[in-house]
Formats: sequence, C-alpha cells, structure tokens
Amino acid sequence: MVRGKPNILITGTPGTGKTTMSSALAEATQLRHVNIGDLVKEKNLHDGWDEEFECHVINEDLVCDELEDMMEEGGVIVDYHGCEFFPERWFDRVVVLQTENSILYDRLSKRGYTGSKLTNNIECEIFQTLLEEAKDSYRVDVVVAMKSDSIDDIEKKCCGFDRLGCKLVHNPVC
Ligand SMILES: Nc1ncnc2c1ncn2[C@@H]1O[C@H](COP(=O)(O)OP(=O)(O)OP(=O)(O)O)[C@@H](O)[C@H]1O
Ligand SMILES: [Mg+2]
Repeated sequence: MVRGKPNILITGTPGTGKTTMSSALAEATQLRHVNIGDLVKEKNLHDGWDEEFECHVINEDLVCDELEDMMEEGGVIVDYHGCEFFPERWFDRVVVLQTENSILYDRLSKRGYTGSKLTNNIECEIFQTLLEEAKDSYRVDVVVAMKSDSIDDIEKKCCGFDRLGCKLVHNPVC
C-alpha cells in the first residue's frame, strides 16, 4: 500500500508508556495519535464490561472498521496494548515498549493496581508477551523493541522517530 505518511503502532504491556510516547511522538512528527482505549469508549466499539479484568471487551472488528479509512490515508500513531488483530498491511513500524520489572511494578502500583491485575501485567512484561505477539504478527524488519524506563528514553526516541518517519515516507518536510 502506498501512503503519503507512515503509520506507527506503539504497543506494550499496560504502564510501559504507550500513551506518553505516542503523545510526544505526535507532537514531534505532527502525526495523529489514536488511543484505541479512548476510541473504544467514545464510539462504543465494545461488547460490554468485563468484571474480572475491569475493562471493556473490545470488539476488534468494529475497531478495524472504524480505523480503516484513516489508516489507508496514513500518518496515524496507534496506541494499544495488543497488536495481533490489526491488519499487517496497516503499519510501517511496530514499536514494542519495554520497562524494567521493578519500575513497571512501581508505576502500576501507583495507579492502584493490586493482586492478580498487578501480577498478570508484570508477568506479561517478564515473558515479553507483546514482543512475541508483534513478531508473530508483523515482518521482522517492521518490529522494534524500545526501552521505556525513563522520560529521557522517550525524548531520545522521539528524535529518532522523526528521522525514521522521513525514511519511511521520503517526506521532504522533515
Ligand atoms: N519512559 C517513561 N519514563 C518515566 N515514566 C514514564 C515513562 N513512560 C510512562 N511513564 C509514566 O508511567 C505512567 C504510565 O504511562 P502511560 O499511561 O503512558 O502508559 P500506557 O502504556 O499508555 O498504559 P496503558 O496501557 O494502561 O494505557 C504515567 O504516569 C507516565 O507518566
Ligand atoms: Mg495508555
């Protein structure tokens, strides 16, 4: 697919900094940030509330239908803690954020996560679940793992992305 601007997926375990990174990146590149969690709530793209996991049960088909035209146009940063249900053709780059376990533990505890909600997320990070999912779903040269332990990590990466975006689209503006 030929797009005027690249599409980037920012994924990773909850709390690794996807929204922080996506917002900073959107500001640096002028690409559009789409937070899938917010979109699902805003447009009711779900099948109700999951009491056990305390989140909406996302309707993946509705989400993909909602995004299709935007993704075809390009220039979208998608922010979501999953990646296997999006069409592979949508993304020029899939970034998996990774955070050191004790740092992630503190971030999630601060948010009020406890018990199995906390341990499930920490295990997800320990087992690199999102990185495996990304590698299974996208070409190996599209997927990149990035450390997100400090704000400095994010700032450095945004600069890299600006250049990466240029390379991907040969955008003369950058
Ligand atoms: N690289 C980082 N360095 C330091 N703090 C960070 C970093 N990234 C995120 N944070 C902090 O960690 C918390 C979680 O960040 P954020 O909400 O961006 O994560 P997320 O991956 O989008 O989470 P979720 O999947 O639940 O939406 C926030 O308080 C944010 O300020
Ligand atoms: Mg988020």
